[in-house]
Amino acid sequence: MPTETAQPKTRVAVLISGSGTNMASLIAAGQVADAPYEVAVVVSNVASVAGLDRARAAGVEALTVEHGSYGKDREAHERAIDALLIQHKVEVVALAGYMRLLTPWLVQKWAGRMINIHPSLLPLYPGLNTHARALESGDAEAGCTVHVVTEGVDEGPVLGQARVPILPGDTPDALAERVKAAEHRLYPQTLAAFAKRRPRSGP
Ligand code: GRF
Repeated sequence: MPTETAQPKTRVAVLISGSGTNMASLIAAGQVADAPYEVAVVVSNVASVAGLDRARAAGVEALTVEHGSYGKDREAHERAIDALLIQHKVEVVALAGYMRLLTPWLVQKWAGRMINIHPSLLPLYPGLNTHARALESGDAEAGCTVHVVTEGVDEGPVLGQARVPILPGDTPDALAERVKAAEHRLYPQTLAAFAKRRPRSGP
């Protein structure tokens, strides 16, 4: 009887700037035996953030490329990150709390192969302070969105969304916590579905 050859897992890089709780959920889901992807490397633009320790504790290589060393040359910083992605044979890039605006150069380089998670139901509330803005608007629900990265900030085709209720007396922090829990479920599922489509064109 012919044996089925397992597809190699899609190699994912996660870019972070902070605590990396979404990154941790992506790593864990990718470590399951039949997951369609694996996190091959984590890159932070800020030294000593908790996400780097979390990644290493999960057995994933975690590197820092500090943006400060590149002054105003954002593209040079991205070229240094990109070199690491190539070195690690990365096929898909997942932004997870990466707090730098990307230049068109990096976005174009990874067009169709870079995704992001945003803590709102896009197109509502792109940018910062999403939870406070949802509360101020009197919305009945909030949520999170995973989308393909394009040149516009928090734009790009939506791959998946999860909704949570807004409850009486909610504060931005309480709502953020509820949304975070939804993010940790949505992002791994959406990345797995995206990886199964195997965006293969090389860098
Ligand atoms: C998340 O809320 C994500 O939606 C946003 O940045 C935050 C990162 O949190 N892009 P964490 O570092 O994954 O905990």
